[in-house]
Amino acid sequence: MKIGIIGGTGKEGRGLAVRWAKAGHHVIIGSRSAERGAAKAVELSERFGLTTLSGTDNPGACAAEIVVLSVPYAGHRQTLTALRPHLAGKILVDITVPLRPPKVRKVHLPEGKAAALEAGAILNPPGAAEAERVAVVATMHHVSSSHLIDVDHAIDCDVLVCGKKGARQRVVELVADLGMRGIDCGPLANAVALESLTPVLLYINKAYGSPGAGIRITGLPASHSAVEESS
Ligand SMILES: NC(=O)c1ccc[n+]([C@@H]2O[C@H](COP(=O)([O-])OP(=O)(O)OC[C@H]3O[C@@H](n4cnc5c(N)ncnc54)[C@H](OP(=O)(O)O)[C@@H]3O)[C@@H](O)[C@H]2O)c1
Repeated sequence: MKIGIIGGTGKEGRGLAVRWAKAGHHVIIGSRSAERGAAKAVELSERFGLTTLSGTDNPGACAAEIVVLSVPYAGHRQTLTALRPHLAGKILVDITVPLRPPKVRKVHLPEGKAAALEAGAILNPPGAAEAERVAVVATMHHVSSSHLIDVDHAIDCDVLVCGKKGARQRVVELVADLGMRGIDCGPLANAVALESLTPVLLYINKAYGSPGAGIRITGLPASHSAVEESS
């Protein structure tokens, strides 16, 4: 699969890029600067021995079938508004947590209740043609960038995924290629809960001295059990 990452030069994006490229996907690292995107792809390819990474500007990264948005919330609206024509008809995976620095350990609901709901409203204004509608999926809020880039180690957490039916199932499958278990968490409205958990995890990290606490879902049928999958 071809996956584009808007803001793929950053902490979370580069870990996703490396893990997906290691799994055999073609990954395009996007940046506000085509030179920065290309340089990051060269750097990561050399460091991790990868052959399916490339880098360019953010519109170029939107040439992929599935596009991940990985920029700080401060740049969320502006980035999506500018890239809207490039995202028509695609799956947009929004991993944004609407943190409000410096109080990042306290839940902050943005005006639209969740960054991903705001993304849906920006990308699918009233009257948008069906073929141009963007399927927004929200996920990855609870996976620390420090774990993602540590590619020789499995990540001990589940990945909660919500969004448009069909699209979110494809993303659940892509999460498996990152080495984690994706969990179907229903419609995009549930992004309010998913995004709100991250400040809680950031609080737990500080309280317990963890480099990146994660989430585990228990009680699923055996075929979906984390114990069975890891054994
Ligand atoms: N870090 C984590 O552990 C983590 C975990 C879960 C979710 N997230 C979410 O993932 C997203 C990315 O996090 P991150 O830690 O990777 O962020 P980051 O490293 O601070 O930024 C990612 C990239 O976004 C671009 N960028 C920065 N400011 C921007 C702006 N105002 N407008 C447009 N682009 C901008 C930059 O790329 P260029 O300068 O090359 O354009 C930067 O490399 C955030 O929404 C965050 O909430 C992060």
